[in-house]
Amino acid sequence: MKLYTTISSLQEALKGERAKGFKIGFVPTMGALHKGHLSLVERAGEMSDIVVVSIFVNPNQFNDKTDLANYPRTLDSDMALLGTVKCDYIICPSVTEIYPVPDTRKFEFGLLETVMEGQFRPGHFNGVAQVVSRLFEIVVPDLAFFGRKDFQQLAIIKDLVRQLKLPVGIVPCNIVRESDGLAMSSRNKLLLPQHRECAPLIYHTLSEAKELSFTKTVAEIKAFVAERINSNSLLTLEYFEIVDDTSLISVKDWKDPGIKVGCIALYAGKVRLIDNIIFTD
Ligand code: PAJ
Repeated sequence: MKLYTTISSLQEALKGERAKGFKIGFVPTMGALHKGHLSLVERAGEMSDIVVVSIFVNPNQFNDKTDLANYPRTLDSDMALLGTVKCDYIICPSVTEIYPVPDTRKFEFGLLETVMEGQFRPGHFNGVAQVVSRLFEIVVPDLAFFGRKDFQQLAIIKDLVRQLKLPVGIVPCNIVRESDGLAMSSRNKLLLPQHRECAPLIYHTLSEAKELSFTKTVAEIKAFVAERINSNSLLTLEYFEIVDDTSLISVKDWKDPGIKVGCIALYAGKVRLIDNIIFTD
């Protein structure tokens, strides 16, 4: 496992790997790694010859400066965790390596960027698109691995690859959860004990909603989730939406065609958490 901080040194190393005919799998991250991230790295190890992980807290995707300042940075433990799986190269670049000049590109994703996260985090997905396209340009991976935890981000990345006609396969990976159901997230580290204690209610409510979806309407399920979350005084619901998994169009009826995903965002104290569940698969 080699750690690089400059793009040119990584590219030099990858040139050698590519010359040997090796396929490159890439896992972009913002660090503060946990088992969710590691599952992506493991998947990359199974599906590619060489695994590259990036650790870069991308300022362009934070619409809230305090959130950026508070984002956990834990390079030593990240390296230790990556040492437990197949990871060949880590790139941990500075902001000026990634953005030698300010990135002013404006991407258009239509509805994909205006609903749900897009409504509450203006500019977030444009920042994600900027950094992911830049990282793809640097690493030139054959495959790139993204978690279903960030379900809307995954939809955006697929569209980005389609728009830019990039020759990279996007591999979606399942959500990894704590034993009590809470979706693993770097932000969980920021939860106060009382918020950590009630956070499993998120997944329990989503699972219950899935069970109830066999007998209740879409509107009833939405009301159920809102009521359940808001009945806990430590949690504040931001949104719960049931959307088509590709178009992100809001589902009105279970009879609508396509895969339906229930997506939630809420605050547990000052920490914003997201999760989702597939209703039909
Ligand atoms: P980050 O939040 O570090 O997540 C990196 C990748 O890990 C994403 O694809 C995310 O969906 C996945 N991931 C996080 N928690 C997961 C879990 N519990 N189970 C499965 N996968 C999980 O997402 C980002 O960084 C950034 O936006 C990035 C794509 C790196 C661009 O800056």
